[in-house]
Amino acid sequence: MRTEERSSPIAGRSKAAPPIPERSTWRWPRSAPKHRRWWLPSSTSPTCSTITPRPSISNLVSGLKYQTPALLFDAIAPFVPAGKLDILDLGCGTGLFGPQLRPLARTLTGIDLSSNMLKKAEQRQLYDQLICGDIAEFLEAQSQAFDLAVAADVFVYIGDLSRVFRGVRGALRDGGLFGFSVESTDEADFVLRTTLRYAHSVPYLEKLARDHRFVLERVEARVIRQEHEVDVNGYLAVMRCA
Ligand SMILES: C[S@@+](CC[C@H](N)C(=O)[O-])C[C@H]1O[C@@H](n2cnc3c(N)ncnc32)[C@H](O)[C@@H]1O
Repeated sequence: MRTEERSSPIAGRSKAAPPIPERSTWRWPRSAPKHRRWWLPSSTSPTCSTITPRPSISNLVSGLKYQTPALLFDAIAPFVPAGKLDILDLGCGTGLFGPQLRPLARTLTGIDLSSNMLKKAEQRQLYDQLICGDIAEFLEAQSQAFDLAVAADVFVYIGDLSRVFRGVRGALRDGGLFGFSVESTDEADFVLRTTLRYAHSVPYLEKLARDHRFVLERVEARVIRQEHEVDVNGYLAVMRCA
Protein backbone atom coordinates (compact mmCIF):
# COMPACT_ATOMS: atom_id res chain seq x y z
CA MET A 1 0.00 0.00 0.00
CA ARG A 2 1.27 3.41 -0.86
CA THR A 3 0.97 6.04 1.86
CA GLU A 4 1.30 9.74 1.32
CA GLU A 5 2.30 12.65 3.50
CA ARG A 6 -0.64 14.90 4.25
CA SER A 7 -0.61 18.39 5.67
CA SER A 8 -3.00 19.01 8.54
CA PRO A 9 -5.37 21.96 8.72
CA ILE A 10 -4.74 21.87 12.46
CA ALA A 11 -0.98 21.82 12.57
CA GLY A 12 1.88 21.97 10.18
CA ARG A 13 3.57 18.76 11.29
CA SER A 14 2.25 15.54 9.84
CA LYS A 15 3.23 11.96 9.27
CA ALA A 16 1.40 9.39 7.26
CA ALA A 17 0.05 6.29 8.95
CA PRO A 18 2.11 3.16 8.41
CA PRO A 19 0.60 0.72 5.95
CA ILE A 20 -1.77 -1.84 7.35
CA PRO A 21 -1.37 -5.26 5.79
CA GLU A 22 -4.35 -6.74 4.06
CA ARG A 23 -5.56 -10.13 5.20
CA SER A 24 -6.63 -12.42 2.49
CA THR A 25 -9.15 -14.35 4.56
CA TRP A 26 -11.26 -11.27 5.05
CA ARG A 27 -14.25 -11.13 2.74
CA TRP A 28 -16.24 -7.99 2.06
CA PRO A 29 -19.46 -7.74 0.12
CA ARG A 30 -18.79 -7.38 -3.57
CA SER A 31 -21.45 -4.71 -3.79
CA ALA A 32 -19.19 -1.92 -2.55
CA PRO A 33 -15.76 -2.60 -3.96
CA LYS A 34 -14.47 0.94 -4.22
CA HIS A 35 -13.58 1.43 -0.56
CA ARG A 36 -10.33 0.21 0.84
CA ARG A 37 -10.64 -2.53 3.44
CA TRP A 38 -8.00 -3.71 5.81
CA TRP A 39 -7.65 -6.34 8.41
CA LEU A 40 -5.58 -5.48 11.41
CA PRO A 41 -3.67 -8.58 12.44
CA SER A 42 -3.81 -9.18 16.12
CA SER A 43 -2.09 -11.61 18.37
CA THR A 44 -3.78 -10.64 21.60
CA SER A 45 -7.16 -9.11 20.89
CA PRO A 46 -10.32 -11.02 20.07
CA THR A 47 -10.44 -11.96 16.42
CA CYS A 48 -12.68 -10.08 14.08
CA SER A 49 -15.41 -12.56 13.52
CA THR A 50 -18.93 -12.03 14.70
CA ILE A 51 -18.46 -10.19 17.97
CA THR A 52 -21.57 -8.14 18.63
CA PRO A 53 -21.36 -6.37 21.97
CA ARG A 54 -24.59 -5.66 23.73
CA PRO A 55 -26.83 -3.81 23.23
CA SER A 56 -27.78 -4.67 19.68
CA ILE A 57 -27.76 -1.95 17.10
CA SER A 58 -31.51 -2.04 16.57
CA ASN A 59 -31.96 -1.46 20.29
CA LEU A 60 -29.36 1.24 20.20
CA VAL A 61 -31.17 3.31 17.67
CA SER A 62 -34.78 2.74 18.65
CA GLY A 63 -35.44 1.24 22.10
CA LEU A 64 -32.58 3.06 23.79
CA LYS A 65 -33.25 6.35 22.03
CA TYR A 66 -29.62 6.34 21.09
CA GLN A 67 -28.33 9.69 19.95
CA THR A 68 -24.74 9.83 21.13
CA PRO A 69 -23.17 10.54 17.71
CA ALA A 70 -25.44 13.56 17.24
CA LEU A 71 -24.80 14.83 20.77
CA LEU A 72 -21.08 14.29 20.44
CA PHE A 73 -21.00 16.02 17.08
CA ASP A 74 -22.65 19.11 18.64
CA ALA A 75 -20.08 19.05 21.45
CA ILE A 76 -17.14 18.86 19.05
CA ALA A 77 -18.43 21.26 16.39
CA PRO A 78 -17.33 24.54 18.03
CA PHE A 79 -13.73 23.30 18.16
CA VAL A 80 -13.44 21.92 14.65
CA PRO A 81 -11.18 24.06 12.45
CA ALA A 82 -11.94 25.05 8.90
CA GLY A 83 -10.62 22.75 6.22
CA LYS A 84 -10.93 19.06 5.58
CA LEU A 85 -9.71 16.70 8.27
CA ASP A 86 -8.34 13.20 8.51
CA ILE A 87 -10.84 11.64 10.88
CA LEU A 88 -10.70 8.43 12.90
CA ASP A 89 -13.97 6.92 14.12
CA LEU A 90 -12.97 4.58 16.96
CA GLY A 91 -15.45 1.75 17.49
CA CYS A 92 -17.38 2.98 14.48
CA GLY A 93 -19.89 0.12 14.66
CA THR A 94 -22.38 0.35 11.82
CA GLY A 95 -21.16 3.84 10.97
CA LEU A 96 -23.94 5.84 12.60
CA PHE A 97 -21.49 8.72 13.04
CA GLY A 98 -20.47 8.63 9.39
CA PRO A 99 -23.10 10.98 7.94
CA GLN A 100 -22.05 13.78 10.28
CA LEU A 101 -18.32 13.18 10.03
CA ARG A 102 -18.09 12.74 6.25
CA PRO A 103 -18.66 16.43 5.32
CA LEU A 104 -15.72 17.41 7.57
CA ALA A 105 -13.45 14.71 6.26
CA ARG A 106 -10.61 14.55 3.83
CA THR A 107 -10.35 10.93 4.85
CA LEU A 108 -12.65 9.01 7.16
CA THR A 109 -11.31 5.85 8.78
CA GLY A 110 -13.42 3.56 10.94
CA ILE A 111 -12.16 0.79 13.18
CA ASP A 112 -14.17 -1.80 15.04
CA LEU A 113 -13.77 -5.27 16.49
CA SER A 114 -16.92 -6.57 14.88
CA SER A 115 -16.89 -7.56 11.25
CA ASN A 116 -20.68 -7.70 11.29
CA MET A 117 -20.83 -4.06 12.29
CA LEU A 118 -18.25 -3.13 9.70
CA LYS A 119 -20.23 -4.78 6.92
CA LYS A 120 -23.11 -2.47 7.73
CA ALA A 121 -20.79 0.54 7.90
CA GLU A 122 -19.42 -0.44 4.51
CA GLN A 123 -22.88 -0.28 2.99
CA ARG A 124 -23.07 3.41 3.85
CA GLN A 125 -20.16 4.09 1.47
CA LEU A 126 -18.95 6.95 3.65
CA TYR A 127 -15.66 5.58 4.97
CA ASP A 128 -12.38 5.56 3.05
CA GLN A 129 -11.03 2.77 5.21
CA LEU A 130 -12.75 0.30 7.50
CA ILE A 131 -10.44 -1.66 9.73
CA CYS A 132 -11.35 -4.73 11.70
CA GLY A 133 -9.28 -4.74 14.86
CA ASP A 134 -8.75 -3.57 18.39
CA ILE A 135 -8.61 0.17 18.94
CA ALA A 136 -5.58 0.14 21.24
CA GLU A 137 -3.52 -2.06 18.94
CA PHE A 138 -4.40 -0.02 15.89
CA LEU A 139 -3.57 3.26 17.63
CA GLU A 140 -0.16 2.03 18.67
CA ALA A 141 0.78 1.66 15.01
CA GLN A 142 -0.23 5.25 14.15
CA SER A 143 1.87 8.38 14.34
CA GLN A 144 0.38 11.85 13.82
CA ALA A 145 -1.91 10.59 11.09
CA PHE A 146 -5.24 12.16 12.13
CA ASP A 147 -6.73 15.56 12.97
CA LEU A 148 -9.81 14.33 14.80
CA ALA A 149 -10.54 11.10 16.66
CA VAL A 150 -14.00 10.29 17.96
CA ALA A 151 -15.36 7.47 20.10
CA ALA A 152 -19.13 7.42 20.55
CA ASP A 153 -20.35 4.95 23.17
CA VAL A 154 -17.22 2.83 22.92
CA PHE A 155 -15.50 3.40 26.25
CA VAL A 156 -18.41 1.66 27.98
CA TYR A 157 -16.51 -1.48 26.91
CA ILE A 158 -13.12 -0.35 28.23
CA GLY A 159 -12.45 0.42 31.88
CA ASP A 160 -8.84 1.58 32.10
CA LEU A 161 -8.50 4.10 29.27
CA SER A 162 -4.80 4.93 29.69
CA ARG A 163 -3.59 2.74 26.80
CA VAL A 164 -6.23 4.16 24.48
CA PHE A 165 -5.42 7.73 25.46
CA ARG A 166 -1.70 7.15 24.91
CA GLY A 167 -2.52 5.76 21.49
CA VAL A 168 -4.88 8.55 20.52
CA ARG A 169 -2.30 11.16 21.56
CA GLY A 170 0.28 9.52 19.32
CA ALA A 171 -2.15 9.12 16.42
CA LEU A 172 -3.25 12.76 16.44
CA ARG A 173 -1.33 15.61 14.92
CA ASP A 174 -0.40 18.62 17.03
CA GLY A 175 -3.55 20.52 17.92
CA GLY A 176 -5.68 17.50 17.02
CA LEU A 177 -9.06 16.95 18.65
CA PHE A 178 -10.39 13.96 20.56
CA GLY A 179 -14.12 13.74 21.25
CA PHE A 180 -15.77 10.88 23.09
CA SER A 181 -18.63 9.88 25.32
CA VAL A 182 -18.63 7.92 28.55
CA GLU A 183 -21.25 6.86 31.02
CA SER A 184 -20.79 8.88 34.18
CA THR A 185 -19.94 7.90 37.73
CA ASP A 186 -18.64 9.78 40.75
CA GLU A 187 -17.80 6.63 42.70
CA ALA A 188 -14.29 5.93 41.40
CA ASP A 189 -12.07 6.48 38.36
CA PHE A 190 -14.16 3.88 36.59
CA VAL A 191 -16.66 1.23 37.63
CA LEU A 192 -18.16 -1.80 35.91
CA ARG A 193 -21.90 -1.68 36.25
CA THR A 194 -24.33 -4.57 36.50
CA THR A 195 -25.21 -3.73 32.90
CA LEU A 196 -21.62 -4.87 32.11
CA ARG A 197 -20.86 -1.38 30.90
CA TYR A 198 -18.13 0.80 32.36
CA ALA A 199 -18.75 4.29 33.68
CA HIS A 200 -15.99 6.88 34.14
CA SER A 201 -15.58 9.92 36.39
CA VAL A 202 -14.62 13.49 35.56
CA PRO A 203 -11.52 13.45 37.84
CA TYR A 204 -10.37 10.35 35.92
CA LEU A 205 -10.88 12.08 32.57
CA GLU A 206 -8.96 15.09 33.89
CA LYS A 207 -6.13 12.83 35.03
CA LEU A 208 -6.01 11.10 31.63
CA ALA A 209 -5.85 14.49 29.95
CA ARG A 210 -2.96 15.60 32.16
CA ASP A 211 -1.06 12.33 31.81
CA HIS A 212 -1.34 12.28 28.03
CA ARG A 213 -0.84 15.99 27.25
CA PHE A 214 -4.37 16.92 26.29
CA VAL A 215 -6.15 20.15 27.14
CA LEU A 216 -9.65 19.36 28.33
CA GLU A 217 -11.74 21.77 26.28
CA ARG A 218 -15.17 20.60 27.40
CA VAL A 219 -16.91 18.06 29.59
CA GLU A 220 -20.64 18.18 29.36
CA ALA A 221 -23.06 16.11 31.44
CA ARG A 222 -25.87 14.75 29.27
CA VAL A 223 -28.44 12.03 29.16
CA ILE A 224 -26.80 9.94 26.46
CA ARG A 225 -29.59 7.40 25.98
CA GLN A 226 -32.43 5.66 27.74
CA GLU A 227 -32.49 2.07 28.88
CA HIS A 228 -35.85 0.56 29.81
CA GLU A 229 -37.19 4.11 29.75
CA VAL A 230 -34.64 5.20 32.37
CA ASP A 231 -32.19 7.96 31.55
CA VAL A 232 -28.55 6.92 31.33
CA ASN A 233 -26.27 9.79 32.31
CA GLY A 234 -22.97 10.38 30.66
CA TYR A 235 -20.35 12.91 29.73
CA LEU A 236 -19.39 14.24 26.36
CA ALA A 237 -15.74 15.26 26.38
CA VAL A 238 -13.62 17.21 23.94
CA MET A 239 -9.85 17.29 24.33
CA ARG A 240 -7.16 18.95 22.28
CA CYS A 241 -3.55 17.87 21.94
CA ALA A 242 -1.51 20.29 24.03
C1 LIG B 1 -22.22 0.77 21.28
S1 LIG B 1 -21.33 0.54 19.80
C2 LIG B 1 -21.17 2.21 19.20
C3 LIG B 1 -20.88 2.24 17.74
C4 LIG B 1 -20.76 3.62 17.11
N1 LIG B 1 -19.64 4.35 17.68
C5 LIG B 1 -22.04 4.38 17.26
O1 LIG B 1 -22.05 5.39 17.96
O2 LIG B 1 -23.03 3.97 16.67
C6 LIG B 1 -19.68 0.22 20.41
C7 LIG B 1 -18.77 -0.32 19.34
O3 LIG B 1 -17.44 -0.37 19.87
C8 LIG B 1 -16.82 -1.51 19.36
N2 LIG B 1 -15.71 -1.85 20.25
C9 LIG B 1 -15.76 -2.11 21.57
N3 LIG B 1 -14.52 -2.32 22.06
C10 LIG B 1 -13.67 -2.20 21.01
C11 LIG B 1 -12.26 -2.33 20.86
N4 LIG B 1 -11.47 -2.59 21.92
N5 LIG B 1 -11.73 -2.14 19.62
C12 LIG B 1 -12.53 -1.86 18.57
N6 LIG B 1 -13.87 -1.73 18.65
C13 LIG B 1 -14.43 -1.91 19.86
C14 LIG B 1 -17.91 -2.55 19.32
O4 LIG B 1 -17.62 -3.60 18.44
C15 LIG B 1 -19.11 -1.72 18.90
O5 LIG B 1 -19.30 -1.72 17.51
